[in-house]
Amino acid sequence: FSNHDIIIVGAGFFGATIAERVANELGKRVLLIDRRRHIGGNAYSENDRETGIEVHKYGAHLFHTPNRAVWDYLNRFTQFTDYRHRVFSAHKGQVYAMPINLGTICQFFGKHFTPDEARALVVSQAAELAGREPQNLEEKAISLIGRPLYEAFIRGYTAKQWQTDPRELPENIITRLPVRYTFNNRYFNDPYEGLPVDGYTAIFERMLGNPLIETRLGVDYFDLKSEIPEGVPVVYTGPIDRYFDYRAGELKWRTIDFQEEVLSLGDFQGTAVMNYADEDVPYTRILEFRHFNPERNYQTEKTVIVKEFSRFATRADEPYYPIDTAEDKRIYLAYKALAEQEKNVIFGGRLGTYRYLDMHQAIAAALKSFESEVRPALT
Ligand code: FAD
Ligand code: NA
Repeated sequence: FSNHDIIIVGAGFFGATIAERVANELGKRVLLIDRRRHIGGNAYSENDRETGIEVHKYGAHLFHTPNRAVWDYLNRFTQFTDYRHRVFSAHKGQVYAMPINLGTICQFFGKHFTPDEARALVVSQAAELAGREPQNLEEKAISLIGRPLYEAFIRGYTAKQWQTDPRELPENIITRLPVRYTFNNRYFNDPYEGLPVDGYTAIFERMLGNPLIETRLGVDYFDLKSEIPEGVPVVYTGPIDRYFDYRAGELKWRTIDFQEEVLSLGDFQGTAVMNYADEDVPYTRILEFRHFNPERNYQTEKTVIVKEFSRFATRADEPYYPIDTAEDKRIYLAYKALAEQEKNVIFGGRLGTYRYLDMHQAIAAALKSFESEVRPALT
């Protein structure tokens, strides 16, 4: 390791951004390792062998950002399509546009409402609690959007996501439930949105293309930690509790099981993401990957769908969403204090800081960490 100026653990967006900056901006030598056998972290995608359809291996990844600097940065490594994300939700034999908008409300209540009429309706239905403080997630949701919309679109979906009755979930899991009083059903509000024209993995190949970056895959940091010479800075984007051998307790996560199927038909659902709001359907949603890239000439004989099942993660699972209870917050703060004492190690990314980060946030955090922590450590 004496050949390297810095060691970066994790080839997701956080680690790859740091690696790119260190090599291209500072001209220093990087060793980037990942325990997985591919680069890209959770944004990794590959083309399905049978159909050629690009499949995001760790769930649908939609790139969107309000941040011009991040958008410009990523545009150095890819062009974006003009894909605009939309989500639909199946409920009791009907299909509705998400997030809940004026179209959803008119369709659901079977009536033409003006924006003001719809607003007044939701306000009157949300008054059910009569000023009482919400005691659980169900009551919180009702206080925001009223019972009918909650029971149709939130209750079953949330119960499946958490494998818990929403009346037993804390109210602070949700702070808002967006309702739009227009017919706009674009999922994201951000000014910059799109999918990479030649896929996610190509972004990482370009970011890591500088020969100053050596990438080693299938390598677990904890198997080589003892060989790293004193004084070589490390950027660690793995789980922070694992780093400290779980000595302050285990941080809790949710994971998703993905059930992939290739179907012999040209179009299964007519859209990329269909939520299943009802509890009698075991999965939370179905992704159909061809619809992320309508500009590609995919074959029309076959299509790839993925059903998602949500559950609590064990140590053996991929950690996806921090559960972040009061207990988790306390544990994380203990690790954060330990991390600050850890010389020459910079903790970052979603696992290293126990935070859900969208891709653009992981990149923004890495660009910031590069300037405030990595550059000073190397120059
Ligand atoms: P990661 O991508 O998780 O990278 C961390 C890497 O560290 C991993 O590859 C891991 O293998 C490696 N690692 C961990 N421990 C070790 C070790 N001991 N030794 C070596 N390597 C190690 N974002 C969006 O913007 N839009 C979306 O639509 C979107 N959808 C998502 C859907 C799902 C199901 C999930 C889970 C996330 C989604 N995200 C989305 C978030 C996106 O995946 C993250 O922003 C991004 O992964 C964060 O990058 P990262 O580098 O912090 O972490
Ligand atoms: Na540190």
